[in-house]
Amino acid sequence: MPSLNDIRSTFLSYFQANDHLVIPSAPLVPQNDPTLLFVNAGMVPFKNYFTGAETPPTLRAASSQKSVRAGGKHNDLDNVGYTARHHTFFEMLGNFSFGDYFKEGAIELAWGLLTRNFGIPAEKLCVTVYHTDDEAADLWKRIAGLPDHRIIRIATSDNFWSMGDTGPCGPCSEIFYDHGEHIPGGPPGSPDEDGDRFVEIWNLVFMQFEQFADGTRKPLPKPQIDTGMGLERITAVLQGVHDNYDTDLFRTLIAASQGFVGADGEPASHRVIADHLRSSSFLIADGVSPSNEGRGYVLRRIMRRAMRHAHLLGAQEPLMHRLAPTLISEMGEAYPELRRAQPMIVETLRQEEERFRRTLGRGMALLEEATTGLGEGDRLPGEVAFRLYDTYGFPLDLTQDALRARGVAVDLDGFQDAMRRQREMAREAWTGSGQAAAAAEWFAIRERLGATEFLGYDRTEAEGELVSLVRGGDETPSAGAGETVFAVFDCTPFYAEGGGQAGDVGVATWPGGRGRVLDTQKQAGDLFVHEIEILEGELQVGHRIRLAVDADLRRTTKANHSAAHLLHAALRHVLGPHVAQKGQMVDGERVRFDFSHGGPVTLAEIEAIEAEVNAVIRQNRSALTEEMAPEAAIAAGAVALFGEKYGESVRVLT
Ligand code: SER
Repeated sequence: MPSLNDIRSTFLSYFQANDHLVIPSAPLVPQNDPTLLFVNAGMVPFKNYFTGAETPPTLRAASSQKSVRAGGKHNDLDNVGYTARHHTFFEMLGNFSFGDYFKEGAIELAWGLLTRNFGIPAEKLCVTVYHTDDEAADLWKRIAGLPDHRIIRIATSDNFWSMGDTGPCGPCSEIFYDHGEHIPGGPPGSPDEDGDRFVEIWNLVFMQFEQFADGTRKPLPKPQIDTGMGLERITAVLQGVHDNYDTDLFRTLIAASQGFVGADGEPASHRVIADHLRSSSFLIADGVSPSNEGRGYVLRRIMRRAMRHAHLLGAQEPLMHRLAPTLISEMGEAYPELRRAQPMIVETLRQEEERFRRTLGRGMALLEEATTGLGEGDRLPGEVAFRLYDTYGFPLDLTQDALRARGVAVDLDGFQDAMRRQREMAREAWTGSGQAAAAAEWFAIRERLGATEFLGYDRTEAEGELVSLVRGGDETPSAGAGETVFAVFDCTPFYAEGGGQAGDVGVATWPGGRGRVLDTQKQAGDLFVHEIEILEGELQVGHRIRLAVDADLRRTTKANHSAAHLLHAALRHVLGPHVAQKGQMVDGERVRFDFSHGGPVTLAEIEAIEAEVNAVIRQNRSALTEEMAPEAAIAAGAVALFGEKYGESVRVLT
């Protein structure tokens, strides 16, 4: 019987053999996309290829993408544990055509893999198409030989897929597996379609439009294919079980938690723990920490929900961190970031559970008391739910989950009233992934001009041709004294803010004019954008401009940047390897270094850290720079930032 790991490999090799480039999973925190909380589908990292904002490196790609659906448009959190097939974290297997093959190719490839390579009998499969999509229905008939009654036309949004409120979208065709008559549930489109008998295993999206925030839809430059198959669901099918939680990986995870708390207890609790262990660990590995806002709060909700179930199962000690090694040994080969982050995952889980256990028992007692006498159809007063939230750290969905078995709901209006203020604060604090909103324009400029050549690793002065000038959000051929503009040159010695180092400042001069470079930022990946205040003369696209970095400031910035790395190393030596960098900001005057650690740092530890950093500085050693592939760098012991996207080659400093 193939394992989950085997099935992932078979999928990727099949598409590789069919001329697809296999692309590693992107981190769960979306890069270059402020519209999404988490990557929630295989196509998300390719969004700019679909919209045409960026040129894809290949016309055909395949991936197994880490995905989290626990918040936002696609949210499965409430179902986890209670159905056979919902997860907060799952792997989405997908093949993508960026303007290469379309419906016919997608259907042929999918049908071939399922029925030939995976050997699924055709009579166990049926499909849906969007109600108006005659073309797809005809193709299914011709390619798969499916009879009409197994090509079901669906008129709802179930067969029109969109990434979020904005972004690429299109009609889709879903492939369902029939787990057999012994499982309750009806075929798609029937009143009891929500049962577990017919399970959607693969969604083929025929991407044709881009949806905008104002509700309008524009056709994409070319029709494209995005498919997504839940690895956990197809594994259940191929392992002959109907429940994802009965597949090899989940059996192993559940056996591990049973090893600690015994095999009795609610099966749903074991499933919730296994599922939430995966999402929590993968999110932590990609740099998310539990907190009270944004992504961190989604993580905290997931972790605490699992912890309540551990408590229900009678766990006497924090449980989750003890399960992490089992998960990492199962999945660490496919996702090495899990192995690299192991100490941090274990520590974060342990600390959160210890913190929550202090109030969990008391909160549960309060909940018991407040619900005595309540039954099916009753409601828990909103203020109680709010008190549980505010004083005992119970996220609302945890309280709802706790009352679910008794059919008691929460008075949401009352809760919302009490909550409003906190919610507004959280929303204000939520800033997406921090990329500029006008990213589309920068991508267009980047497409037209190509990347900026960066000369600044070994010089602070150079001449560059001004290739694009942006004023007030629009490109302009020229700008005059007194204006502040954004300028792109073919090459530049100015370092753009990145890796927590501030962008360079300096001066720009040209015959008859000069300006002050106030900041340098990167846009669209590798476009260096200089913010320039024009002091004299006119700045014109096409002219050659002398660019000089403030070299003194650069020198102190570089020194401070090195100090940040020394500090990072010293923190790990003194406090432990779980210490992970959460951010840094280095400029010519100071270093700010954010890191995660479970408690306060003692005076003695601070002294030891300072002594180590100063001792290395006093050695005055030279720095070595090498270019290498990211994998080689990590193998050589370089510290990669979790969740950071690296290019084909990285610059490693020793
Ligand atoms: N984007 C589609 C989905 O998530 C297919 O990959 O279902």
